[in-house]
Parts: sequence; structure tokens; C-alpha cells
Amino acid sequence: MVTDSLFKVLPAEANGGTTGTVSISFDGKALRVPLGASVAAALLAAGVERFRTTPVSGAARAPYCMMGVCFECLVEIDGVANRQSCLVPVAEGMTIRSQLGMRELNDFITLAGGTRDER
Ligand code: FES
Repeated sequence: MVTDSLFKVLPAEANGGTTGTVSISFDGKALRVPLGASVAAALLAAGVERFRTTPVSGAARAPYCMMGVCFECLVEIDGVANRQSCLVPVAEGMTIRSQLGMRELNDFITLAGGTRDER
């Protein structure tokens, strides 16, 4: 779900002088987001409210701590699941998908540097 955001992007002076934007996509929607932001901050500023759903109840979740502690911000980035979006800086052309429910074992194998089982 994408809605008007309560989050606002700080001026460049407050962001270490970083200026400019990059193009990313979230669940197939093209977005222009501030260069230098984390994926979580960029998506929140773009109005994204649901980053993942829980494996048990399917409840919507979104970033909470923004510092790598709570794991509420998990998304799939460029085909790799279970990425903490608050710890990953946005990059041009990044493809991000919300993470729905539990991940497959192959997702963990890929994250560990192995190859996916294509059966
Ligand atoms: S928002 Fe808590 S780990 Fe990312």
C-alpha cells in the first residue's frame, strides 16, 4: 500500500550535503527517492506503509527501530530476501519487493552465497 507519508526528507545540509535522487521500484511501482537514504527511509518518505507481512497471521509490518535491531523492515532487494531495509542504502535501479509471510529455504541459501535450487 502506498499513501501520503508523514515522513519528510531533510534538506541536503542535514543529510551530510548529499543531494540528488535515484530510481528504484517497490512492488513494481517506480519511485524517485533521495540519494544517500536507507531503503527503509526512502520507502517511508515515499508513503510505503507495509514492508512485509508476518508468517503466522499475515499482519502488515513496517520499520520500527531504523537501526537494525527489530527486523520489522525485512524486504526482498534485487532478488535477495530477508534484507534489513534500514541498513541498506538505496542504489540506482534497485528492485525492492515486500516480503509476504515466511521465506523459502532457498532464500537463505542465496543470502549465504549459495545457489538456488531451481526444482
Ligand atoms: S527497522 Fe528495525 S531492523 Fe530495520
